[in-house]
Amino acid sequence: ATPVIIDCDTGVDDALALLFAVRHPGLDLRAVTCVAGNTDVDQVVRNTLTVLEQAGAPGIPVARGAERPLIEPVRTALHVHGRDGMGDLGLPAPARRPADVDAVALLRRTILASPRPVTLIPTAPLTNIALLLRTHPEVTRNIERIVFMGGAVATGNATAVAEFNVWHDPEAAAILLSAGVPTTMYGLDVFERVVVPAGDVRRLGESTEPGARLAGRLLSHRDPVTGEEDPGGGLGDAGAVCAVADPAGLTTHRLPVEVTLAPGPGRGQTVVDRRRRPGEAELHGEAREQPLVDVALDVDVERYVKLYLATVEGAGAR
Ligand code: BDR
Ligand code: CA
Repeated sequence: ATPVIIDCDTGVDDALALLFAVRHPGLDLRAVTCVAGNTDVDQVVRNTLTVLEQAGAPGIPVARGAERPLIEPVRTALHVHGRDGMGDLGLPAPARRPADVDAVALLRRTILASPRPVTLIPTAPLTNIALLLRTHPEVTRNIERIVFMGGAVATGNATAVAEFNVWHDPEAAAILLSAGVPTTMYGLDVFERVVVPAGDVRRLGESTEPGARLAGRLLSHRDPVTGEEDPGGGLGDAGAVCAVADPAGLTTHRLPVEVTLAPGPGRGQTVVDRRRRPGEAELHGEAREQPLVDVALDVDVERYVKLYLATVEGAGAR
């Protein structure tokens, strides 16, 4: 199985990602690290521990990470994820506490101890990952790839052009992209498309198995502000984990990506250069300084929905 670490801000769809990761036989979830984002970091830790318990995987190490972005103040998304950051489902408090070490230390230790190179899956603002890469650059030798949920080729969600995870900590995202590690950007363009049909969501929600039932309840989470269904059962962050389990479902192009750091309406945008074939920029006298990233441009929606349901329900039935 592929060793993976999820760095998250649980989070309705981060919870869906965790449920999938612990149940997919091709993934070996070795640790989960928490960061401020959708909600404050202590609530993220509680949510993460609870989800792992409900998923029947209470032994996976969980660590608390950054409580704020590198430069920006904390700007949570409780309007999307509910007061507890996870849909206000009234879930029980977790029985255990997080690890004694912080997220950066747990990431370092887990990556360096792994017999095979680790795939990192950040589904949150990239603060922990940036701190890790800056303080312990030696970890890159045992990182296979970073597949992060964040950014957008087209429209943003936090602002007109910026996706929430990158907007929340743009400097951290810029550090990740320039780290020289093979990186896949699972951005809003694909993130928003992978939606589970309502009938499947209902069936999951009625399951007698706690993990599958939780997935169903999370998928039917309604935005408390608008009352609208969280776009019809979107897998959200869980799609990025599907992309690690089954890369053939994702179409990526290797393209230059730059994060806008300047203040103003563009801050936090991922500027993806789709103008030309690779190599042509130099011909036009432009310095090619932006890192190349495998940017997700298309996704096989049906394939990932099937994969998600088979994994989360199948494990429950076993
Ligand atoms: C991202 O922001 C969070 O609300 C979601 O969990 C996802 O990681 C989408 O922009
Ligand atoms: Ca998230």
